[in-house]
Amino acid sequence: MKTEVAIVGAGPAGLLLAHLLARGGVSSVVLETRSQDYVASRIRAGILEHSSVELLTEVGLGDRLHAEGHEHRGVYLQWPGERHHLDFVDLTGRSVWVYGQTEVQKDLVAAGTAEVIYEVTDTVLHDVATDAPYITYTDKSGESGRLDAAVIAGCDGSFGPSRHAVPARHYERTYPYSWLGILADVAPSTDELIYASHPNGFALHSMRSPTVSRLYLQVPNGTDPGEWPDQRVWDELATRLGHGQDGWKLTPGPITDKSVLPMRSYVQTPMRHGRLFLAGDAAHIVPPTGAKGLNLAIADVALLSRALTAWLRENNSRLADSYSDDALRRVWRCTHFSWWMTTMLHASGDEFDAQLQLSQLRWVTSSEAGATGLAENYAGLDIGF
Ligand code: FAD
Ligand code: DHB
Repeated sequence: MKTEVAIVGAGPAGLLLAHLLARGGVSSVVLETRSQDYVASRIRAGILEHSSVELLTEVGLGDRLHAEGHEHRGVYLQWPGERHHLDFVDLTGRSVWVYGQTEVQKDLVAAGTAEVIYEVTDTVLHDVATDAPYITYTDKSGESGRLDAAVIAGCDGSFGPSRHAVPARHYERTYPYSWLGILADVAPSTDELIYASHPNGFALHSMRSPTVSRLYLQVPNGTDPGEWPDQRVWDELATRLGHGQDGWKLTPGPITDKSVLPMRSYVQTPMRHGRLFLAGDAAHIVPPTGAKGLNLAIADVALLSRALTAWLRENNSRLADSYSDDALRRVWRCTHFSWWMTTMLHASGDEFDAQLQLSQLRWVTSSEAGATGLAENYAGLDIGF
């Protein structure tokens, strides 16, 4: 098989890249190890920043997002005894949208613009530093396949083979805590997200729809979800989120999913080797506190699709040559923001850290300059930043 761009991975980065390339008249084929149903039902990110919404809308993927998603003006930041609302629209003129990654994935599949081969195994990238790269794989019936392309896009997340095919250096930071995430069939107890700092640990109240809530608790690394029966989860969420404070109530409900997410900051640089370009989690991971993972993947492929279209359609390689530097500029901004939000909000067990965190929280909730800095980063920079 031959195509212009061979894409490894049918997550949001891979499928959106295929969609954007198709709009520019560039052909692509996507190879994915998992089944279509598995990929579409993975519960992951929930927040789209301003420029992600703009891009999805511009390229014909915004109908359901605008009908079923929920626009939020900002978020609440709280610590014991105090809750403050930061209004991103007032501060920066930008909002964010609650719309699950699963829904973005479904919209991309429904658009039907990506040619995807699901359930492949043994994906191996060959000759990526030459003018004739190709991928070999085994399809679901056990037949060997070969996909030749002008360019390979590695959109295969943090466990895929693409990042290992780039001789690069990486920067990494681990954190001494994880998140226990739950999905619950209950109306959210808040109109906008609550990020809560508490001596017991961080808690986040997010949501997916008017009837489905998504909540997280900071837990020690290595936590087994079995240690957290439903009642314990709700009791701890009530404590950390301030049930009873100023009459606010957390309403519990049936938990339909419970999982533990480890946290890491990781940046691989450069994001290109020869004719292999990395995008999304294949090149970088952020801890989830800043809600940046999905938005970074979207920003990467917006840049990459422009670069590859100019190269393959107009023989202009300028944007392809600057892709890694252009993308990394935003990646490092989001890496810093995610690290900053994480370290400001999670309990480390250190008294000095706790005082610095409180001081920082007071500053971002009382100074317009502090609040605007957080708002600008959370609601997002322009795609081209
Ligand atoms: P992925 O979505 O990981 O897609 C990569 C695809 O490549 C996958 O479908 C995978 O099956 C496929 N693949 C892997 N290996 C191969 C191979 N050898 N051959 C072919 N295909 C392959 N971000 C947030 O902002 N907020 C959150 O709450 C949040 N929660 C998360 C929870 C979890 C458990 C995880 C893993 C991530 C979470 N993220 C969150 C991050 C966010 O979901 C990712 O940043 C986003 O999915 C990145 O998209 P991607 O397309 O780059 O990678
Ligand atoms: C969600 C996840 C995040 O990491 C975050 O910062 C905000 C929302 C969510 O899953 O809804």
